[in-house]
Amino acid sequence: MTRTARFTLHPDFTVGEVNPRLFGSFVEHLGRCVHTGVHEPGHPSADDAGLRTDVLGLIRELGPTAIRYPGGNFVSGYRWEDGVGPVDERPRRLDLAWKTTESNRFGLAEFIDFVRKAGPEAEPMMAVNLGTRGVAEAIELQEYANHPAGTELSERRRSHGDKDPYGIRLWCLGNEMDGPWQTGHKTAREYGRLAAETARAMRQIDPGVELVACGSSGSGMDTFAAWEATVLTETYDLVDYVSLHAYYWEQDGDRDSFLASAVDMESFIEKVVATCDHVGAKLKSDKKINLSFDEWNVWYMDRPNPHEVEEWQEAPRILEDVYSVTDAVVVGSLLIALLRHADRVTVACLAQLVNVIAPIMTEPGGAAWRQTTFFPFAQASRYGRGTVLDVRVDSPTRETRKYGETDLLHATAVRADDGTVTVFAVNRCLTEPLPLEVLLSGLDLTTLVEHSVLADADPEARNTLEDQNRVAPHAGEGATLTDGTLRATLEPLSWNVIRLA
Ligand code: AHR
Repeated sequence: MTRTARFTLHPDFTVGEVNPRLFGSFVEHLGRCVHTGVHEPGHPSADDAGLRTDVLGLIRELGPTAIRYPGGNFVSGYRWEDGVGPVDERPRRLDLAWKTTESNRFGLAEFIDFVRKAGPEAEPMMAVNLGTRGVAEAIELQEYANHPAGTELSERRRSHGDKDPYGIRLWCLGNEMDGPWQTGHKTAREYGRLAAETARAMRQIDPGVELVACGSSGSGMDTFAAWEATVLTETYDLVDYVSLHAYYWEQDGDRDSFLASAVDMESFIEKVVATCDHVGAKLKSDKKINLSFDEWNVWYMDRPNPHEVEEWQEAPRILEDVYSVTDAVVVGSLLIALLRHADRVTVACLAQLVNVIAPIMTEPGGAAWRQTTFFPFAQASRYGRGTVLDVRVDSPTRETRKYGETDLLHATAVRADDGTVTVFAVNRCLTEPLPLEVLLSGLDLTTLVEHSVLADADPEARNTLEDQNRVAPHAGEGATLTDGTLRATLEPLSWNVIRLA
């Protein structure tokens, strides 16, 4: 039996408050995320606006907060005007990012309507195009969306049927502008200047907008950290957040490293925090830049697409990863990593929401179902609200190829305002159960409410169209809470949610 992993919780030792925006997601015009994902006029469940109510029901259960839109790489060639006004008059356009044809039958008004139906905490997080466009188009979009009335653009919105402004607070200044694949890719200095001027103009319309500058599209980029330093030097006083993106997948059959992906995510976060604070110190500023981890997930980007797709096809089946239990455990661990840095990561978006590397899948004209990764996200969004307690684990370890010696236990704990505590824990060991002991010091906890487990005898088990409920969380066995100590056994390769009251 593996030795017991341990940690102590105390209400005085905290990381910070969880910002609800930590549980954001992402809707891009990519593949079938929008078309036949969230929007499918004519589907038996579609409402008057063509939104799939079966999908909306699952989204509300999932509990995303900030929903980023319309991209992603897509936004860097997007003309927002194409997506407003009478649907039948909207142009069809080439989308260079994904080599597809965009019908524009879903645009800004439809997105806002979707967000309003996506749950009580859902809010729009809008990206502007700083690839092929610039300051003028960004402020025109802002005026169309947010100005109440009395100007050409605000009246245009009203004439399109939306009398009230959309009140979008959170804006991304472009997407992955460091990436050579990005339409309109720029050097850090070019982008930093453009982002600064765009931010300045947007703040002239409304000083209260919250702005995200593009950081690196991955910690492996050659320009990583230097990019952030240059961009933030240009934009420090004008933006609130810098973005981070990271995708993980199992490479070369190295499952132990894959299971330890959160080691990389945590180190990426810590390096970006250090860079932000270094620039702040150099600028003699007391302001803190927060982190918007606005794309993260498991994504098998090197797997061949099992679906046949033609160039310039509309809504093709691309990036439709079907996730296993193993993938869900990694997603759970990535959520733990975000929570462990909730003091500085105040926005994060699971990329993406439907069909495209997503927790929810749909069939055109047919069913909608939960992927394995749905469960950790839904549980973290539901129970991960309050104050993150500082968790320092004493855990047995395993040698991994990518990250050296890593803890088998990855964990965090969140204390809600009513004093209840939820422990989120992953056992990274593929073969052995992991005994866990948590000393609950200074916490008035006497009841073990629930131990929920996502694990399976088959770590490759997945939910599919044919077998939509193959994988779901089950009740753990044998956990106890006595004399201020929680004891549990974490199944091999498992995601665990343990609720204490
Ligand atoms: O989420 C898929 C793509 O990944 C996004 O469009 C892009 O920003 C990133 O490279």
